[in-house]
Amino acid sequence: MKAIILSGGKGTRLRPLTYTGAKQLVPVANKPILWYGIESIVAAGITEIGIIISPETGGEVESKTGNGDRFGAKITYLKQDQPLGLAHAVKVAQSFLGDSPFVMYLGDNLVQSELDQFIDKFKSQHLDALTLLSEVENPSAFGVAKVDDRGNVLQLIEKPKNPPSNLALVGVYLFSTEIHQAIANIQPSPRGELEITDAIQYLIDQKQKVASFQLSGWWLDTGKKDDLLAANQIILDTCLETTHEGTIDKESKVSGRVHVGTDSLIKNSMIRGPVTIGKNCKIENCFIGPYSSIADDTTLIDVDIEHSVVLKGATIEGINSRIVDSLIGERAHLKAAPKRPKALRFMIGDDSQIELS
Ligand code: G1P
Repeated sequence: MKAIILSGGKGTRLRPLTYTGAKQLVPVANKPILWYGIESIVAAGITEIGIIISPETGGEVESKTGNGDRFGAKITYLKQDQPLGLAHAVKVAQSFLGDSPFVMYLGDNLVQSELDQFIDKFKSQHLDALTLLSEVENPSAFGVAKVDDRGNVLQLIEKPKNPPSNLALVGVYLFSTEIHQAIANIQPSPRGELEITDAIQYLIDQKQKVASFQLSGWWLDTGKKDDLLAANQIILDTCLETTHEGTIDKESKVSGRVHVGTDSLIKNSMIRGPVTIGKNCKIENCFIGPYSSIADDTTLIDVDIEHSVVLKGATIEGINSRIVDSLIGERAHLKAAPKRPKALRFMIGDDSQIELS
């Protein structure tokens, strides 16, 4: 079995961060979202992975992720020249996939469950498509499935105005080679894309074997700020281990699960986990509260922050009001609030310069 991971798209819902970078490289607990998908695929024993990239952000995805050695996989990069849909991406990958069945993983999705159980079901039932489903509150934002009592998919509709259920299609799919024929037979949707949802519907109409698996664990589509913060919270809750590689001075107090990376210095600060702090950071006179991820090379002085993600190279100074629910872009610079505003909520893009005076 092979795998493809889709890492193209424009990431419009995470602008301004995605003006300068790929949405799949935005970090969750200081690790690019995309890498969780790669690790999950490799953990299921699949090592031949094709990553679909766009001309705009493909170079960055490729240079950061590499040839797969660090994951124990062989990664091939496949360029999709235009964002013409998920099914179009499968077309781009067709020669890479050859006659192999495959897992298709959307690079901005995070799924708690291990993939093994889905692969077992797919193989033992000789399926042509296995979709994963999850209950959501806003089904209209997703592909939605109508299933019978036994979990058989009756109908799939992409972003329906009147959803037939609250079961959304999760961005992880398993396919046999039959999907290529289905894709060759569908037309672009009203949004101008070849939808994988329509290709699976074609398989259903052709009486091919399509089944679904309802997830009980969490699933996150990290396309928006609040989803990203939710993903950060869940990953810090479930995966973070305490390791203090940097220096923590005697005046500082660190409690709960906290990771401090090498060459980082924590001075006169209180860190209450779960918190992860990257390498080469300077944290001075700060309170860093639960569910914060502070990336490499950041400087935080006189800062009170929690439930936030700070990207690489950002500097925050003299903000004594608590920063909450915020996503701070790479190299952003926030400075000084002389009086105490009640609360500050940010979504600030890369290279931003903000002074509160
Ligand atoms: C895509 C699929 C949709 C699925 C979703 C999961 O939507 O088209 O069926 O529910 O991924 O993340 P998109 O992210 O392209 O809007």
